[in-house]
Formats: sequence, structure tokens, C-alpha cells
Amino acid sequence: MDSPPNALVTGASSGIGRATAIELARRGFRVFAAARREDALAELAESMPGIVAVAMDVSDPESVDRAWAKIQADTGGSGVDVLVNNAGFALAGPIETLAAGRLERQFGTNVFGMLSLIRTVLPAMRARGTGRIVNISSVVGRVTFPGMGGYGATKYAVEAISDALRLEVAPFGIDVVLIEPSFVATAIGASADALEVVPSPADDAYRELIARGRDYMTAQVAKGISADRVATAIADAATRRNPRPRYLVPGSAMALVAVLTALPDRLADRVKLRAIGAR
Ligand SMILES: NC(=O)c1ccc[n+]([C@@H]2O[C@H](COP(=O)([O-])OP(=O)(O)OC[C@H]3O[C@@H](n4cnc5c(N)ncnc54)[C@H](OP(=O)(O)O)[C@@H]3O)[C@@H](O)[C@H]2O)c1
Repeated sequence: MDSPPNALVTGASSGIGRATAIELARRGFRVFAAARREDALAELAESMPGIVAVAMDVSDPESVDRAWAKIQADTGGSGVDVLVNNAGFALAGPIETLAAGRLERQFGTNVFGMLSLIRTVLPAMRARGTGRIVNISSVVGRVTFPGMGGYGATKYAVEAISDALRLEVAPFGIDVVLIEPSFVATAIGASADALEVVPSPADDAYRELIARGRDYMTAQVAKGISADRVATAIADAATRRNPRPRYLVPGSAMALVAVLTALPDRLADRVKLRAIGAR
């Protein structure tokens, strides 16, 4: 009997990553589910056959190396067929209030973590002449909003890296696909990385924007689409014969992106401010 295809999903201890691990396992993959919270991963692996828990902090190259050694031992050195770069968190706040260390951690997870995984899986994918990398961006990787500039910058980086990588690795039979979810009802707003409070001398000056931005984000995430819906889109992108380079999820988010990118900048600015209830 053929062995099942292998997938590695980062950020699989909750939200979109957890739902994706389950969906890929349902579709016959052996899924290496990676994250820092080992108890949540152990519970996931016990609840679903085909899922293997892997402790990994994507922002720590040594942790990535340790996890990869385990995966290579389990796959007989053949690596994974699919990598889903999903681990991430969303730093909120006006640019001036974001302490340098916080922005560095934001990039360390969402961008440098993703790059570390890409560099890790590619040699085995190139050797086999096949593979798929699915990078989780966001609508915020296409249009940015006040109070989300730090997070948006990481997702713009994910987009740029993916667009370049897609062309670089195509000759090796490897596809790169972007998934751009709109708001999704997950615990993203409650992540410890996002909530870490570092007071800034500028906080007072932006008090109203901070409050409105927080209320807007909380409300939108609460009424967002389900993680299962995004997981289905990710699993489709991971398995479709000829995937598109990017998928907005839901597809209806296309209208928002199209309008905001087509409007003159000043007009788009007014729409964005009105959307979050600020002036
Ligand atoms: N929710 C939304 O509205 C939305 C919209 C668009 C895009 N996204 C993107 O979707 C992805 C998943 O977010 P989510 O909404 O599912 O949030 P979530 O429920 O908070 O899940 C985030 C996952 O990332 C993991 N993670 C964070 N830092 C990590 C690190 N250094 N190393 C390894 N794993 C790490 C977390 O696990 P541990 O804490 O156990 O490590 C957790 O499993 C993110 O890239 C996010 O930017 C979310």
C-alpha cells in the first residue's frame, strides 16, 4: 500500500491551523501539527488519527531544526508534500505606539518564521521534484487599515515573498499559493503575543484610535467566518491540480479589495476611517 502524503501545518494548536490539520487528515494526509502549546497539540493528535504532534516555535531556528529532525525521521528523510505556513499573531496599535521589540517579534513569527520553514522544507521538495507551499496571508496583506500597520506589514511581506518564490521554485515542480482570509472567528485577538502590553509615551495621543481599532477588530473577528471554512480553502489549495496563486476567503472579500485598491487614495482613506468608526 502507498504511504499517505505528508503535510506540515504550523500554528496547529488552535484556530485556522487546527482546523486545517483536521481537514488534511480527513483527506488522507499524515499531518505534522506544529505549535508551541504541546498540551493542545497532544489533545488534537489524540482526537484525530493521522495527526502527529510536533513541538515547534517558528521564530526559533533551533526549535525548527529539532522539529524537522523528528519529521525527517518519521518520513524516512523524504520531507513533506505540503507545507502550510499558518503560525502567526496580529499586533494591533498605531505605528508610533509599537515598541521596536514588539514589531521585531511580530516579524519574527509571521515573516522570518515562515521563511525559516520554507528554507527547511525546500531541499527535500526540490530533490523529489514536487511540493506545495501554502502561505497564510490576510485581506490585510492587500489593503491596510489604521491601527493594523505592523501586522499588515508582515502580511504584505508574506505576499511579496510568495509572489517571488512562486516563480523561483516553479521549475522544480513546486507550487506556492497564498490564502487571504477576511476576518475569521478564532482566538487571534486573545493570543498572549498580541496582548503583551508595552506602554508607549504616545498612547495618550492615540487614545481614541486605539479604542476604536480594538472595538472594530473584536467585533469583526467575533462575527467572522469559521476556521473550518478557511481550512477547506487551504486543503483545496493544497490538493488542487492547478491552484491559483492566491485565494481570498470568502471570495466575496474580492469586492472590498477591488474597491479599496481602485479608489483614489484619499477617498480610500475616508472609507477606511469610516469603517473603523474613526475620523
Ligand atoms: N483570525 C483572523 O481573522 C485571521 C484573518 C486573516 C489571517 N489570519 C491568519 O491566520 C493565521 C492563524 O491565525 P488564527 O486566526 O487561527 O489565530 P490563533 O487561533 O491565535 O492561532 C494562531 C496559531 O499560531 C501559533 N503560533 C503563534 N506564534 C507561534 C510561534 N512562534 N511558533 C509556532 N506557532 C505559533 C499558535 O500556537 P501556539 O501559541 O501554541 O504556538 C496558534 O496555533 C495567522 O497567520 C493569522 O495572521 C487570521
